Amino acid sequence: MKFFIDTANLSQIKEAHDMGVLDGVTTNPSLMAKEGITGHDNIINHYKAICEITDGDVSAEVIATTFDEIVTEGEALAKLHKRIVVKVPMIKDGVKAIKYFTSKGIKTNCTLVFSAGQALLAAKAGATYVSPFIGRLDDISTDGLTLIEDIRTIYDNYGYTTQILAASVRHSMHIVECAKLGADVVTAPLSVIAGLLKHPLTDNGLAQFLADYAKAAAK
Ligand code: G3P
Repeated sequence: MKFFIDTANLSQIKEAHDMGVLDGVTTNPSLMAKEGITGHDNIINHYKAICEITDGDVSAEVIATTFDEIVTEGEALAKLHKRIVVKVPMIKDGVKAIKYFTSKGIKTNCTLVFSAGQALLAAKAGATYVSPFIGRLDDISTDGLTLIEDIRTIYDNYGYTTQILAASVRHSMHIVECAKLGADVVTAPLSVIAGLLKHPLTDNGLAQFLADYAKAAAK
């Protein structure tokens, strides 16, 4: 399973990259705003800076919501760097634009997906990635992980190659469950990825090993 980091924070992207586990980056307009990145030129330069850190795909989201504007904005984003994936919302013009981008060999990530039917449409349009938002479903008392399971079943039934990119991942067990269900990718904040490291028995065991080593060395 690929690990993407879900942030526009350059130092966190670098930290995940340096850990050796980073396969790509996802951003969205909220994450860009959180880093204080505003204005066309700054946004473009920031995407380029992200692409220089990672070796993997970098999702850059369009703001446009009509077909012609999505195509214009998406083509401009795709030209920025070979690693850019055009992130397009799950709306009618978005699906149409994904089909167009696919025909032009431009990679896409269909975002804001909350149902299996939406994921089926994204796959039919040829999206490279589909982003089901599992945490936001959990937030409204709907099981986000069931959606991952349903999409996996549907894609396997028909051999769709669209990669399931589990998004809105809130805790480390989401990552483990997504791996069990066969998601192709998870995108998560750095803290959630780093949370996979933690186990009290590891910490206690290491402390004991180091203490025993020091005791033996002192003899
Ligand atoms: O990748 C989508 C993600 O950024 C949404 O996460 O936590 O805002 O629901 P969240």
